[in-house]
Amino acid sequence: MASVEMRNIVKKYGDGYPAVNDVSLDIADGEFMILVGPSGCGKSTLLRMVVGLEDITSGDMIIGGKRVNDLAPRERNLAMVFQNYALYPHLTVFENIAFPLRLQKVPDDEVRRRVNEAAEVLELKEHLERKPANLSGGQRQRVAMGRAIVRDAEVFLFDEPLSNLDAKLRGQMRTEIARLQRRLGITTIYVTHDQTEAMTLGDRVCVLRKGVVQQVASPRELYEQPANLFVAGFIGSPPMNFLPASVSGGRVRFPFGEFTLDERRAAAVGDRDLVLVGVRPEYFEDAKLVDDAKRDRGITFTARVDVTEWLGDAQFAYIPFEAPEEIVNQLRDLSRELDSDQLRTQAVVSIDASSRMREGHEAEFWMDTRKVHVFDPKTGENLTRDAEAGAELTRMAAEEREAQVAEARGAAAAAS
Ligand SMILES: Nc1ncnc2c1ncn2[C@@H]1O[C@H](COP(=O)(O)OP(=O)(O)OP(=O)(O)O)[C@@H](O)[C@H]1O
Ligand SMILES: [Mg+2]
Repeated sequence: MASVEMRNIVKKYGDGYPAVNDVSLDIADGEFMILVGPSGCGKSTLLRMVVGLEDITSGDMIIGGKRVNDLAPRERNLAMVFQNYALYPHLTVFENIAFPLRLQKVPDDEVRRRVNEAAEVLELKEHLERKPANLSGGQRQRVAMGRAIVRDAEVFLFDEPLSNLDAKLRGQMRTEIARLQRRLGITTIYVTHDQTEAMTLGDRVCVLRKGVVQQVASPRELYEQPANLFVAGFIGSPPMNFLPASVSGGRVRFPFGEFTLDERRAAAVGDRDLVLVGVRPEYFEDAKLVDDAKRDRGITFTARVDVTEWLGDAQFAYIPFEAPEEIVNQLRDLSRELDSDQLRTQAVVSIDASSRMREGHEAEFWMDTRKVHVFDPKTGENLTRDAEAGAELTRMAAEEREAQVAEARGAAAAAS
């Protein structure tokens, strides 16, 4: 096990385009770090530089306190699981897992011991003599992970390992990987463009955009205190709504009405002609279903409902709003970059499944104004971000995590 430190890592491919641009990232020993971002943002490139499959243009890659820039992949003792984990079809599950040990000429009993240990953890014991072709997708995935585990690697690296599984299996494997990582306590870097995987697996998540780090934080901090428009739009589904607004003396005027920011946020924003107000879908409700105490913590407004989507346990309503052309264009560009088609000039709001508001009619909504964020549309910066509250969320996540690892290790020790 080892920590990973990246210092100002840059990668320029042949044509000079910086695929990774000045990334600095500290990953603690035993931590589960996620690299997430849209296609082409440099996730795989960064991972391949950790393993040594790609030269580093400049910067330092430090693993376990040692600079590894000039070490060959096999000298780094890391284990990588790719998206297309190649298993050898003619070899049994046992020999597939044992493969790296055979290459190292490890003695037979030692091979047997380590493969059996890995198979135990991965619940593959009764499949050891079978061939990969006869296994389910999830079982094959576990064989690929077994091969990584037997090597006693310092760090596990995953590049979208679940992307070619169906949704149900992906969910199962996600749980399994999380459990396994906790149990083994091995430092892990996991690449995905799926924000659900990012939110559920990681201790911390590093959001990348065009080779540049946007924010590194626990899932809760990313969600509650996003650094900028990009992170705010990327994390959360349906995504945060962005509405044009003006602010003067802490008073916000936006398409659904007016409200006043608290002192801290008012001071942080100042007076501005054009900002974007960010409101997550769940900060809204059907005003009819809100009690008086809650009503006072927000505002109510009337708007025409374009479409409703009833999902049984949840319901969404779509409310169109007007926006200046520059904002319309900006939202369109952002959606395109985020591979999402939802950031349009209509708010997606989450209302109780029991709400009977009707499509094409006006309805009264309630909005929680305490949780809105205000963004600078030019720079994308979140002007109202509460850095201290955010850091506290990440601190709490780290504490929880340490307790879980201690528990898992205690249980493993008791079992053996
Ligand atoms: N061998 C290469 N030569 C030149 N450019 C490359 C090469 N590999 C990747 N790139 C470029 O580097 C950037 C980052 O690519 P990378 O594969 O790291 O993205 P990614 O975040 O893993 O994307 P995806 O989610 O699609 O896998 C892209 O703009 C890509 O075009
Ligand atoms: Mg990739």
